[in-house]
Amino acid sequence: MAAQTNPFQRIFGKIGQTPLIPIKNVGSRGMKLYAKLEWCNPFGSIKDRPAWWMIKEGERNNILKKGESIIIEPTSGNTGVALAGMCQALGYNAEMVVPKRVSIETKGIMKDMGVKMLETEDDLCPRVGPGTDQAIALAKAIVKGTPSKYYMPNQYKNEANFQAHYETTGPEIWDSTNGKITHFITGIGTGGTITGVSTYLKKKSPSVKTIAVQPQRDHHLQGLRNIEESQMPDVLERRAETIDDWKTISDDDAFNTLREAGKKENLFLGPSSGATLRAALDLADNVKDGVGVVIFGDSGHKYWSVFDKFNVFTREEFVKLQDRGKYNSKPLFLKHQLPSNK
Ligand SMILES: Cc1ncc(COP(=O)(O)O)c(C=O)c1O
Repeated sequence: MAAQTNPFQRIFGKIGQTPLIPIKNVGSRGMKLYAKLEWCNPFGSIKDRPAWWMIKEGERNNILKKGESIIIEPTSGNTGVALAGMCQALGYNAEMVVPKRVSIETKGIMKDMGVKMLETEDDLCPRVGPGTDQAIALAKAIVKGTPSKYYMPNQYKNEANFQAHYETTGPEIWDSTNGKITHFITGIGTGGTITGVSTYLKKKSPSVKTIAVQPQRDHHLQGLRNIEESQMPDVLERRAETIDDWKTISDDDAFNTLREAGKKENLFLGPSSGATLRAALDLADNVKDGVGVVIFGDSGHKYWSVFDKFNVFTREEFVKLQDRGKYNSKPLFLKHQLPSNK
């Protein structure tokens, strides 16, 4: 069977089924707290899921032709890394439109994977809304020039983004908590994760509460969006009623929390996970009973330049977590890690 002889199928078979682990040593609380480690996906983030679902959709609709088609996407990084890796595996070309502020390591990973990259002046997350978005507008303009060459999945609009989480992340969380989850906490980028998971969980148990985490304005938490700075993406707006509460987390609080998680839990969190963990810990302080699940969207591997700039970790601390952090998986861009020897 073709599916079994294609070596790349092994990569795609490893998307999802990420570990759910207890958070025991940070914070004091009544609620039990678990984290879903999305960095264990093959390309290192939660975005492997929607990237794969959007590619499958392009193939199903016969838009994609191997060796010919170009996948183009506006992205703050993780979707670009996932799409680029999948394009390499499947024989498509990749072009990504990214805001300048995306970490140099993230851009380096995409370049190494053969991506043609265009940079814009957006915030860290591409803005949404006519007249303010740049990455999205530029990608659309490029496609308009030669539409037959391009497939723009457009994660901000694409229903497959929602579907990926409704069909995989949501059921995984429900099953691994044996249906005991009471609170779900995650960050907002496109809104795919929160609407997909929340819709699924509320179908299983309408009393589950969903908490959206957004960064402060003008933030440095790659992957997340402050929705006062940009319109809501369509994916989020379509099902915004699945969100029960919003929490805004500052850069400082996110960085301090991820530093603490490194020290006390030996977990190597990316910036957005510092924010989601802070929100989850604050909530857990105020909920007596219950089971909370928080999403860790990616690990710290791509963020030395950010951690260094904001004095989050010393080089030694960074290298120690990178080499010996708990549940570290081996994302497919290892050469971008810092070498242990100075
Ligand atoms: C690194 C990262 N990217 C993106 C997101 C948000 O994903 P979405 O685009 O599904 O809203 C998260 C959520 O926590 C994240 O941690």
